Amino acid sequence: MSSHEYTVPAEGLDAAEVAEPGAVTIVVPTFNESANIGQLLHQITESVPARLPCEVVFVDDSTDDTPEVIREAAQDCPFPVAVLHREEPVGGLGGAVVEGLKAAASEWIVVMDGDCQHPPSLVPELVATGERTNAGLVVASRYIKGGSRAGLAGSYRVAVSRGATWLTKALFPRRLHGISDPMSGFFAIRRSAVTAEVLRPLGYKILLELAVRSRPRQVAEVPFVFQDRFAGESKSTAQEGVRFLRHLAGLRTASPVARMVGFGLIGASGFVPNLVGLWALTVLGLHYLPAEILANQLGVAWNFLLIEQLLFRDRRAHRRWWDRLGRFALLANADLVLRIPLIALLVGRFGMGALPATALALVMTFVLRFVGTEALVYLPRRKTGRGGRSTARRGV
Ligand code: GDD
Ligand code: MN
Repeated sequence: MSSHEYTVPAEGLDAAEVAEPGAVTIVVPTFNESANIGQLLHQITESVPARLPCEVVFVDDSTDDTPEVIREAAQDCPFPVAVLHREEPVGGLGGAVVEGLKAAASEWIVVMDGDCQHPPSLVPELVATGERTNAGLVVASRYIKGGSRAGLAGSYRVAVSRGATWLTKALFPRRLHGISDPMSGFFAIRRSAVTAEVLRPLGYKILLELAVRSRPRQVAEVPFVFQDRFAGESKSTAQEGVRFLRHLAGLRTASPVARMVGFGLIGASGFVPNLVGLWALTVLGLHYLPAEILANQLGVAWNFLLIEQLLFRDRRAHRRWWDRLGRFALLANADLVLRIPLIALLVGRFGMGALPATALALVMTFVLRFVGTEALVYLPRRKTGRGGRSTARRGV
């Protein structure tokens, strides 16, 4: 069978083999979608190759027989179909898409779901719109005239999707300017607009990742109707929602200034457990001085947890958790111990008033603590030369 030779084996996917300038590579992430593959490839066959040469790359993290089903169905396809099965699903859906982007060699890449919620008939139009408007990114949007989220199952999903869209747009008003549907999983992107090295995908929102970190020079949108799933169930879970919030925090605090603001906000929030602890301990009859010290440790622990989860999530592998906690607690307590002598110095030596001296000391110790935390707790340790300890420890 002639179409068989188009099928690229999973291990040997070579970008050069599936390349064809002026064509589109359709990247489809799949996780246990065997019941949808036939229908999806059928719909693509019906609507794409006649208008635009295409190839399809599935990036698969399935635990079922999806890869075999794809290879079988590919034999009847008039275009190349490749399966890239990953042993480890690093980065989830977003990580899979980035693997697909890296493997593609055509000028345009369209990312779409494998469950037929994204109509393949729109693929040529997405690319044509990009060519016409000279855009680097074309988003298929449910939120512009002509689009709809008909297939979003249930009012709960609608509310979550709407809230997430609103929050995301509020956090990135400039970067997402002109993108009405940053949560969309259906878009076309020019290969030249993809900067795979700077991407750190985490979960579902790969378009958001691309728009914020790759920053394509121009963006266009095309309306689309979000269809019902053809078969099976959504793989999105509450856990995926938590992952999304972490992804947002990571994107928002990518710059040092934003990270410092986050550090300050988290620090301020630490007053709550600190005061509650102080209250509880004094009610229990403890003298207020030891109570202050203990309650302060509660605030430190609170700050440590939030900072680890929200600010330095991807920089934790350099040290063990108790090492990080110890260093963090040391810095936090040094801050307290240093502040009083510093105020005394500012007042006594430099003749400042007590209030401005306290304010200045607070700012100084805050900056020191932030810089210290970055440098002493979360900076990668220097490598011990080739073959030495690698920076990222596995399984941490
Ligand atoms: N490779 C891989 N790895 N694929 C995955 C993974 C994963 O961990 N998780 C999900 N997928 C695949 C699914 O198999 C499907 O093809 C596609 O990603 C979308 O997953 P669904 O589970 O169908 O997501 P959804 O319908 O709830 O969400 C879709 O719509 C949202 C908008 O409401 C996605 O397109 C989202 O990206 C989009 O934001
Ligand atoms: Mn879906």
